[in-house]
Amino acid sequence: MPQAASTVNRYTTVAIVLHWAIALMIIGLILFGLLMTQEWVPNRFAIYQWHKSIGITVLILSALRLMWRLTHRPPALPASMPLWQRNASHATHGLFYALMIVMPLLGWAMVSASELPIPTVLYGLVGLPDMPGVPESEAVEGRFRLLHEIGAKLFIALIVLHVGAALKHHFKDKDDVLRRMIPWLNKHRLKTKV
Ligand code: HEM
Repeated sequence: MPQAASTVNRYTTVAIVLHWAIALMIIGLILFGLLMTQEWVPNRFAIYQWHKSIGITVLILSALRLMWRLTHRPPALPASMPLWQRNASHATHGLFYALMIVMPLLGWAMVSASELPIPTVLYGLVGLPDMPGVPESEAVEGRFRLLHEIGAKLFIALIVLHVGAALKHHFKDKDDVLRRMIPWLNKHRLKTKV
């Protein structure tokens, strides 16, 4: 059952671990995703396989994170935060969750539509089947590729906004918004969820 937001002032350990693990993976996926599409980059095949493996891992972890989020209310935002900032924060977080699920699905759909016989073997161990219902067609692959590229740009914009907002809370507003996601930044003991 969801807990009242007002009783806690930090995220649960599970939420914190998932947040930072997924964040690191997404930043890596974006950096290496942009690199691997450049022809001069060596070992592109290996980077593609890592990209696909980590992308599917993000899909699984994001599904877990979404389930955790729906059953565990986050700590309340500072009372001093204006309504427009609260709305912006909720909209950004909603878009993040949507992209964390949709981007890997678009990547999977793209490689499923490819006419090239290149298998995806996750971490060199498990073969990724084609997404059911996706036809093998260059045109369909191209459409999913375009959507994947647009999603990547949207992700970059959201990350800039999200990091900028977190830093503003920490350094300008001097509130606990960043600290509750990085508890070791705290000088005082925090009350955790039980
Ligand atoms: C959160 C998850 C993911 C993120 C953030 C991400 C990000 C990116 C980025 C930034 C690019 C470069 C786009 C560009 O050229 O502008 C890219 C390309 C690509 N991604 Fe992903 N990706 C994700 C998941 C996946 C998954 C799960 C797969 C496949 C199973 C995949 C397959 C590909 C492929 C094949 C390309 C190259 C497209 C091309 O040849 O132009 N991605 N991705």
